[in-house]
Amino acid sequence: MCGIVGYTGNKNATEILMKGLKSLEYRGYDSAGVAVFTGSKIKTVKEKGRLKNLKAMLLETSVEGNTGIGHTRWATHGVPSDINSHPHTSEDGKIAVVHNGIIENYEELRVMLKSKGYTFKSETDTEVIPHLIDMYYDGDVFCAVKKAVSHLDGSYALGVICENEPDKLIAVRNRSPLIIGAGEGENFIASDIPAVLPYTRNVFFLDDGEIAVITKGSVNIYDSDGQAVEKLPETVNLSETAAQKGGYEHFMLKEIHEQPKAVADTLRSRISNGKNVKFDGFDAETVTGFEKICIVACGTAYHAGLVGKMVIEKLAKVPTDVELASEFRYNEPLLDNNMLVIAISQSGETADTLAGVRLAKEKGAYVLAITNVAGSSISREADNVFYTYAGPEISVASTKAYTTQLVAMYLFALFLAESRKTLKPTELDIVKNELLNMPETLESVLELEGEIKRLSKEIYKETDMYFLGRGLDYKAAMEGSLKLKEISYIHSETYAGGELKHGPIALIEEGTVVIAISTNKEICAKMDSNIKEVTARGAYTVVFANESTATQHKECSDIITMPEVNPLLTPITSAVPLQLLAYYVAYNKGEAIDKPRNLAKSVTVE
Ligand code: F6R
Repeated sequence: MCGIVGYTGNKNATEILMKGLKSLEYRGYDSAGVAVFTGSKIKTVKEKGRLKNLKAMLLETSVEGNTGIGHTRWATHGVPSDINSHPHTSEDGKIAVVHNGIIENYEELRVMLKSKGYTFKSETDTEVIPHLIDMYYDGDVFCAVKKAVSHLDGSYALGVICENEPDKLIAVRNRSPLIIGAGEGENFIASDIPAVLPYTRNVFFLDDGEIAVITKGSVNIYDSDGQAVEKLPETVNLSETAAQKGGYEHFMLKEIHEQPKAVADTLRSRISNGKNVKFDGFDAETVTGFEKICIVACGTAYHAGLVGKMVIEKLAKVPTDVELASEFRYNEPLLDNNMLVIAISQSGETADTLAGVRLAKEKGAYVLAITNVAGSSISREADNVFYTYAGPEISVASTKAYTTQLVAMYLFALFLAESRKTLKPTELDIVKNELLNMPETLESVLELEGEIKRLSKEIYKETDMYFLGRGLDYKAAMEGSLKLKEISYIHSETYAGGELKHGPIALIEEGTVVIAISTNKEICAKMDSNIKEVTARGAYTVVFANESTATQHKECSDIITMPEVNPLLTPITSAVPLQLLAYYVAYNKGEAIDKPRNLAKSVTVE
């Protein structure tokens, strides 16, 4: 989604802003711009398209100064265009604003501002903000911003500069992330940490409603009433190289290969030496008190939730529902204080999931967040947080964040089962020990890469594919299908094996590619019947099996055999080859793997 950077110090602000915007490219954008103090004037340059277009513009116009703001925009209100790009300015160009989020009442604000004589150049919701600030400006930009934001409904992270008060940045956060990077004789703002990592690891996390006044030598933070807030910077432990490709052609491939480590780090955060899973913040009474669980998430995180439901019910015997966050919030869910709501979100910023968290809390449910981003909105609003340790995930298609979400689900199910004594310790130990071995197992799964590359060459020219599975394999198939369509743009659908003959089998014809996941010995014969049904109708069938089920599937066109694991854990081992399949199919097609069309990394709009 949109990205914000801001700088004030002694260096060339334009260069720092462009570098920061580059590091935020992964968020997805369709235009970019900067506004910089050049001498006594603010110069604003913005351009539709990729950053290289903006760079070319900046070569034509000299934009040099020591303070400025920059933005990458992902269109919501108004088409991608030069005019709709940020920064937006007051009519005289003296106030410039970058904004992430959505101003919900912008139409009424436009009417009000027009009645006062303001004119609008763009179709955006954002343009009301510089006009509002201008309306209140009386020699103090902080006061004007404070008054202006009191009119705004919606979500906004803002960076503001004002020509009359040079070398000062104003930053505001409300339901959209914004951090301040604290340097030596220089300070930064950014919507995401990687933009400041080349310069500092000391970061102030703004809370909703806070406004910061930033100069090169000072950071002063105020609440929405203008009262000073005492806050110290926190040190973040992300390395710069973690945010780079590390020799792989794409971030996605790098991140697929990082999964053994990501899984190990996530396991280590909660369990050591085969001991019980630890979960701070849950007292014994709370854990045994939950009568029901509801998991709320979107996209890939929702798929992790589907696996979580099955595992929690199997191990901990707590009835569990899974809801798409975008449905949950509008379906009047039955929630009370005997319920646990688990919100899964890699970014911790997904608007619908965040709204689900707020609704659950309002109704008295206990909220556990499972997220990969420390300081994210969801992590801050939940009652308890399980951080996954995937590290920064740059590629838009989620891979290591997903497998660490699965690990979080297993660990939580084990924790519940241990606390509620629903299974014998020896039964739980079997799952726990295999889970602890997962990093090594994933190393051997990654050795299938050569085979998957070969398979991808056979099928990459297809326009449609179907995924099949039963039980947990069905959930794994759903994620495999999503990954494929996201980055290869091949149409694909997933069906539970038993559902085929209730309609979808009508789609099968000579050469149709059907990918079946079959890892469960108990039901692989049933799966094999489904495979035979489609083979008989001409399908090209590829089976992802494991050592114990491969022998069952003799009539398929191709088979990939994964290492054997406990049947409960197979969604983790199936995820990796299916990610590799999506990757190599998209690679053969020459697609923009890390930045698929129409998608954004963090979906902060509803
Ligand atoms: C798919 C993908 C998306 C996200 C979804 C939720 O690869 O990344 O489907 O899973 O947008 O995002 P988070 O987990 O950030 O809430």
